[in-house]
Amino acid sequence: MEDHSLLPYSARGRVKEHKTNHSFLDHSADDMETAVIYVVILGVISGLTSGVGVLPADSLNAAVGGTVMFTTTLIPPETQFVSVVWTFNGNNIITSTTALNTTGPEYEGRITLFSSTGSLEVRNLTLNDSGEYRVNIIPAGRSLSGHTRLDVYVPVSNITLTANSSDLVEFFSSVSLSCSSSGSSLSFLWMNSSSEVTASDRVQLTDGGAILTIISVTRYDQGPFRCRVFNPVSNVTSEPVNLSISCELLTYTLSLISDII
Ligand SMILES: *[C@@H]1O[C@H](CO)[C@@H](O)[C@H](O)[C@H]1NC(C)=O
Ligand SMILES: *[C@@H]1O[C@H](CO)[C@@H](O)[C@H](O)[C@H]1NC(C)=O
Ligand SMILES: *[C@@H]1O[C@H](CO)[C@@H](O)[C@H](O)[C@H]1NC(C)=O
Ligand SMILES: *[C@@H]1O[C@H](CO)[C@@H](O)[C@H](O)[C@H]1NC(C)=O
Ligand SMILES: *[C@@H]1O[C@H](CO)[C@@H](O)[C@H](O)[C@H]1NC(C)=O
Ligand SMILES: *[C@@H]1O[C@H](CO)[C@@H](O)[C@H](O)[C@H]1NC(C)=O
Ligand SMILES: *[C@@H]1O[C@H](CO)[C@@H](O)[C@H](O)[C@H]1NC(C)=O
Ligand SMILES: *[C@@H]1O[C@H](CO)[C@@H](O)[C@H](O)[C@H]1NC(C)=O
Repeated sequence: MEDHSLLPYSARGRVKEHKTNHSFLDHSADDMETAVIYVVILGVISGLTSGVGVLPADSLNAAVGGTVMFTTTLIPPETQFVSVVWTFNGNNIITSTTALNTTGPEYEGRITLFSSTGSLEVRNLTLNDSGEYRVNIIPAGRSLSGHTRLDVYVPVSNITLTANSSDLVEFFSSVSLSCSSSGSSLSFLWMNSSSEVTASDRVQLTDGGAILTIISVTRYDQGPFRCRVFNPVSNVTSEPVNLSISCELLTYTLSLISDII
């Protein structure tokens, strides 16, 4: 909310345009008040729709071990900035002035500050880098700021799909397919041949979608089944699994009986 005076350039342009169209400076104090409210509302709207301050994105996603670039909306100025300060959850990342640069110890060797725009690159990301990033830039005569959120995820890997039984009889057996994998904030999607599996009386998705249970299999449930695991930075699809379903319960029963005899 402290960003009302710190709109991106595009919003500043729109505010100016409104003033000239209505030439409210020539009218009563009431009009002036309306215009001021309008400017404040415009500030709030621009904060919601076009990012916050000089950082255009509300939030960014990145993978562990990866790199993120916080790009400001600023175009390179003719003169150098007086200062650029980047913080993470309130702690110093880099404070850069023409006289001195101070980099936080945990950022040594893994950041690059672009002095013409104030943009920042952070490399070798860990889960601990998830949080709020703020920038404060002082060019000649004014102050600009912005903030955004970074969410770092462990990419999906090591996916395995297993069925709890391979000996299935039509109308008689139930089967559980379970999908396991490594990664953070995982979501699951199941494919039956080329179509997506949807839950029904007979088809249950449990454990956050990681387990697919088919009650009373039919001959049409042979698959191949695949699970796809995804999070905001990656997705992986499992190898296919076919179900082998004996179609005649009677034949199966007779074979069991003949085994016993
Ligand atoms: C601080 O870093 C900026 C950007 O990398 C650079 O332009 C400037 O010369 C540095 N200042 C000092 C004193 O090292
Ligand atoms: C960043 O990761 C690379 C390998 O991915 C490694 O060689 C480098 O030393 C790491 N740098 C820092 C500052 O941790
Ligand atoms: C993340 O932070 C915790 C505590 O703040 C620390 O114990 C851990 O080593 C950090 N992990 C990485 C990968 O930096
Ligand atoms: C992959 O998953 C299996 C079990 O699902 C586990 O035993 C193995 O350690 C995992 N490998 C890695 C690299 O996470
Ligand atoms: C496999 O899971 C289903 C559903 O939970 C269960 O009905 C069935 O008995 C299980 N099969 C085996 C061989 O454990
Ligand atoms: C798999 O697809 C077949 C063919 O479309 C369908 O008959 C069957 O009911 C599906 N099974 C499940 C568990 O989605
Ligand atoms: C899955 O990952 C691939 C790259 O591996 C990417 O091109 C694709 O857009 C991703 N799909 C989804 C739904 O995230
Ligand atoms: C699974 O079934 C498909 C056809 O439905 C077949 O092309 C594929 O070879 C089978 N895979 C295995 C491992 O049996």
